[in-house]
Amino acid sequence: MKNKKTITKTQKSGFSFDLHLQVASPGRINLIGEHTDYNEGYVLPAAIDKTIIFSFSRNGSRNRCTVQSMDYDETLVIDLDHISKSTEGWHNYILGVLHEIKLKTDKVKGFHCHIESLVPVGSGISSSAALECGLAFGLNELFQLGLEKWDIIKLSQRAEHNFVGTKCGIMDQFASVMGKKDHVMLLDCKTLDFDYISMNIEPYKLLLLNTNVSHNLATGEYNTRRRQCEEGLAIVQKHFQVESSLRHVTSEMLEHCKQEMGPLLYNRCSYVVSENERVLKAVNALKKNDLKEVGRLMFETHRGLSEDYEVSCVELDFLVALAKEHEGVLGARMIGGGFGGCTLNIVQGDGMASFVEKATKAYQERFGIELSAFQTSLSNGTHILKKF
Ligand code: GLA
Repeated sequence: MKNKKTITKTQKSGFSFDLHLQVASPGRINLIGEHTDYNEGYVLPAAIDKTIIFSFSRNGSRNRCTVQSMDYDETLVIDLDHISKSTEGWHNYILGVLHEIKLKTDKVKGFHCHIESLVPVGSGISSSAALECGLAFGLNELFQLGLEKWDIIKLSQRAEHNFVGTKCGIMDQFASVMGKKDHVMLLDCKTLDFDYISMNIEPYKLLLLNTNVSHNLATGEYNTRRRQCEEGLAIVQKHFQVESSLRHVTSEMLEHCKQEMGPLLYNRCSYVVSENERVLKAVNALKKNDLKEVGRLMFETHRGLSEDYEVSCVELDFLVALAKEHEGVLGARMIGGGFGGCTLNIVQGDGMASFVEKATKAYQERFGIELSAFQTSLSNGTHILKKF
């Protein structure tokens, strides 16, 4: 590409660096409410203790930026006057955010940014939102852009739509920026109102099991699901007065239109309608500290995602089935867009090691793939670590 180039390892830029800033931007889990955000429904995510760490400095140049990724062992060189899409996946998150910021302000000047990630890519805990939001948050501080948290969330989402090509909802960027230690967040994706709900699950723990597979279907199938929901909604709207999303569609309306929708659209829409109901039920259960019920709802969600919405895969289904049989696991399900990544499990602390051991062995035997397991806790959203 003529307007940007990549170089391996760091190169000396020859510019002077003044203000230094270190930012941490977290991945997220979602307790329940999957594929509901772009249908203007409810979600219940939280930021987690796996973060991407950014170190920023202004380099004194008007337009030359360097973004160095430790994970890809590569430095992206960007000319702020000429930003366009790249063929390289991770570049587009960076370029997309810069493009969106530039549409709002011309205050961004040359900078260097060093990125080190502890959020595994493609694992369903949204390393992408962590990357977008951390970059936008850091540049906002570095150049005093005056962006509010919601500006950062929304421009990061647009970057993903316009540069990466995934027509994602708002959940991931919201969770990464707004996260609060020991809390999940009930977000109404229609009004964008949200509530922090305290989640103390002792003696249980949150455990992520990473399938370490990421089927390439993800982006295409994601956009297809979104379209199918719109198609289903259009049929409902022929018969009922409902607004512009599945949010206000009821299961009775779907029953009425079942024939006309056909099994595929019906299953997609009925999953979404019932998932919205499950989120509200889970919130009630959580407020009563009824973790058993939360776990039961998680298993139900997984069944819906696997059979009706069809965004799971054999590896995820295998791990959830294993969890269901294991005493001491209250609930388990795939999280995120699907087709790979992690399952989220609510597991009794004492029994966690034996469950991980059993799952790792069984998964290796069945798929010949090593499982990664990590306990996680609910953490604060994107924040400054150091400024000097
Ligand atoms: C991805 C998207 C989110 C959301 C989830 C599914 O993570 O980025 O907006 O739609 O999938 O719930």
